[in-house]
Amino acid sequence: MDKLLVRGGKPLQGTVRISGSKNAALPVMAATLLTPGVHRLRNVPRLRDTHTFARVLELLGARVSFDANLLTVDTREVSSVEAPYELVKTMRASIYVLGPLLARFGRAKVSLPGGCAWGPRPVNLHLTGLRAMGAVLEIEHGYIVGRDARLKGATIGFDVVSVGATAQLMMAAVLAEGTTVLENVALEPDVTVLGEVLAGCGARIEGLGSRRLTIQGVTSLRPIDTAIIPDRIEAATFAAVAAMTGGTIRLENVVPDHFEAALRKLEEAGCALQRAADSVTVAGPARPRPLNVVTQPFPGFPTDMQAQMIAVCAVAEGTSVIEDTIYLDRFTHVPELARMGARIELRGNVAVVKGVDRLAGAQVMATDLRASACLVMAALAAQGETLVDRIYHLDRGYESLEQKLAALGADIQRIH
Ligand code: EPZ
Repeated sequence: MDKLLVRGGKPLQGTVRISGSKNAALPVMAATLLTPGVHRLRNVPRLRDTHTFARVLELLGARVSFDANLLTVDTREVSSVEAPYELVKTMRASIYVLGPLLARFGRAKVSLPGGCAWGPRPVNLHLTGLRAMGAVLEIEHGYIVGRDARLKGATIGFDVVSVGATAQLMMAAVLAEGTTVLENVALEPDVTVLGEVLAGCGARIEGLGSRRLTIQGVTSLRPIDTAIIPDRIEAATFAAVAAMTGGTIRLENVVPDHFEAALRKLEEAGCALQRAADSVTVAGPARPRPLNVVTQPFPGFPTDMQAQMIAVCAVAEGTSVIEDTIYLDRFTHVPELARMGARIELRGNVAVVKGVDRLAGAQVMATDLRASACLVMAALAAQGETLVDRIYHLDRGYESLEQKLAALGADIQRIH
């Protein structure tokens, strides 16, 4: 298994170009199933997850090809409706094919995604919503099996704001008979942009950007031809690297509003920011100030930046308090940071972080995508060498991370 060897301790400087967004690309890839045709998606990041999703589409009968970051998906020959456990277990987002398959074919067989590194991640909101639209869904041998059903419009209110369930039901509703109303929907840019892409193909969606969507079903859509938005979590991660190492990093190809909550917290930590239309320059302080952070659905502070922010607070001058309200047990990175000398006390879903002058290099193990980014950041600021194991997690969501960091002056290498 690949590892990353990092020699830390110097401020990173320079410019980094942010890649396309993983969490925006995956639902758009699923949406190609709604219409038989040739779909073109530009600026798709080359990641383990986008390749896994391409594999799922191929198994359903689509022809998929990557040319650099241009993804072409030909769904005219799609004939299977089965997404197997082997793939779904490696990437929960595979469940996004369920709604489009039911909408186009009236049937589907999709493996239930199991748990993840930090506990149960149910999909009850996806299933309840699809059933409200008339889907007949049974759980058989670990699979969600949908039999012949013509989806119909319905009014669905989400108890919890869910990115996945909003995207799922939106995709199911655009081809359903009649009108669907979705209430308390997610506002994450990945979801809003999916709505804009579908509207660009002829879908009738009102209320994008608000917590209430009204979707008038249509009988067919045009193929997708779009460019994937920049990755706001990758951008916020690099901004946090500047805070962590005391360097100055210019982020190119970004939409600052998409990660404003993280930028504001970094300003509180002492970073100096220069925002422009599609770039942000972040100058880190000599030493970060402590923070209070509570994760929330967008436009609040993203849970996908919680681990990275704990790394920043681990070297802050004082005590920080970080609460994750989305995933109550998303703290598998904490014991690994402690191996590097961090002082973090966990109280349920709250981490109390007493900042230390300096972290020390050590052997650590990544447990999930954002935890691995957090450990790489800690290694960049630490004294001495750090060996980060199981970086396949990192490859799921960061395109060419070590090359980008090396270009900013990091002493980092991948060990196969
Ligand atoms: C998306 O996951 C992202 N994944 C996650 O990013 C991100 O952490 C999460 O949204 C929250 O922002 C992708 O976009 C592929 P949710 P998703 O449905 O859709 C509960 C990363 O690092 N819930 O918004 O699975 C759930 O348990 C990944 O890139 C239900 O109870 O998240 C959680 O507490 C990790 N029932 C809350 O809602 C459901 O049916 C939000 O989950 C669905 C969700």
